[in-house]
Amino acid sequence: MKLYRAQLMHTPASPFVFPDALQVLDDGAVLVGNGRILATGSYTELRAAHPQAEGVDLRGGVLLPGFVDTHVHFPQVRIIGGLGLPLLDWLDTYTLPEEARFGDPGHAAAVAREFVSGLASHGTTTALVFGSHFASAVDLLFREASRVGLRVVAGQVVSDRMLRPELHTTPERAYAEGRELIGRWHGQGRNLYAVTPRFSLSASEGMLDACAALMREFGDVRFTSHINENRREIEVVRDLFPGSRDYLDTYERAGLVTRRSVLAHSVHPSDRELGVMAEHRCTAAHCPCSNSALGSGLFPLRRHLAAGVHVSLGTDVGGGTGFSMLKEGLQAYFMQQLMGEQGYSLTPAHLLYLATRAGAEALGLHGLTGDFSVGQAFDAVYLRPPEGSTLHTVLRHAESAERTLAALFALGTQADVAQVWVQGDEVYARGPQPTPEVA
Ligand code: GUN
Ligand code: ZN
Repeated sequence: MKLYRAQLMHTPASPFVFPDALQVLDDGAVLVGNGRILATGSYTELRAAHPQAEGVDLRGGVLLPGFVDTHVHFPQVRIIGGLGLPLLDWLDTYTLPEEARFGDPGHAAAVAREFVSGLASHGTTTALVFGSHFASAVDLLFREASRVGLRVVAGQVVSDRMLRPELHTTPERAYAEGRELIGRWHGQGRNLYAVTPRFSLSASEGMLDACAALMREFGDVRFTSHINENRREIEVVRDLFPGSRDYLDTYERAGLVTRRSVLAHSVHPSDRELGVMAEHRCTAAHCPCSNSALGSGLFPLRRHLAAGVHVSLGTDVGGGTGFSMLKEGLQAYFMQQLMGEQGYSLTPAHLLYLATRAGAEALGLHGLTGDFSVGQAFDAVYLRPPEGSTLHTVLRHAESAERTLAALFALGTQADVAQVWVQGDEVYARGPQPTPEVA
């Protein structure tokens, strides 16, 4: 058993429902055995009750639940920063040419290492991942995630039109390869499978039906895709599906809108779409950095919440600008501020919830990860800014835990991530810090 001592914060409930959902322990501790949280509370009390537990002293920083990124693309690591284009031009110019290279196992294996280490070194312990169009590359992704110990929910991306020939498959082949990948990886270790048509624009009705067949056959695989991201995309989808009421209907008709579905972006939904998303309890994954970078628009968070749609957060690497869920939280805050009365004023507690527990709920993993409640896996990120950094200074002077949390979102980066655990296993540790120069 290990006793981790730190200032810790988590949101076991939603601050959108319970305004005081943020729980803080200034001198707190988490008791961990076999990767599970056995107790969470004050350090003094837990130490007295468990004198035999090995102590891990994490004072001087903040311990948070590991981040849950609910929308991120494996084959897009190397195209992060392709700025200046709207979605469909960005896909054609930067994204699809890079994704076409993943039939080469050498390339796919190298990027799988970059991708998994990118997630872990930013404090992300669980991710819903758009895999590759190539089944062999998806295998390499799962293999690398397993080697490192990250939780990934991932799938082969499938499409049968409008991209480029190397990235197209057929509904029959998508079904067959999906079955094989599910058999090999779903429920193996920390891996889960997500059926992943790229978006309706690149998927015929036959392809969406093949996806639905997999969802029916395997009762607990997850589903993910894109929706209502960009106005031109929405127009093309309308033309491609003349019989559908709207974008959501293209998925809804196939039976793909369920509690197991996470739909990324949802920047331009109709009221009907929001109503159906709420009714079927699917999640909208909000990707604010991507929405800004690609000029997709301002996410109507208030309308989602009013309709009762569950919302989580995603980095959308590489439309998004990096793996940091702290940056993503800050950008979500900025954009809501800019929306005036239509925006929702997000507190640090909301940001923490969106970056952790909300994602776990989206994936149906809230009994396992996303907060520090007893029984959860010990999935955690230890943020400890290097001495001399601005964040270090600000934290030393923070007047409350809320201010500390706000400063972490405002200033925190990959450089502040000191250590990361999944189920009690260390999956990342920062290298030694350069010794400060003596004057
Ligand atoms: N829609 C279809 N494919 C993509 C993608 O790779 N990124 C984003 N942001 N939207 C998409
Ligand atoms: Zn995306």
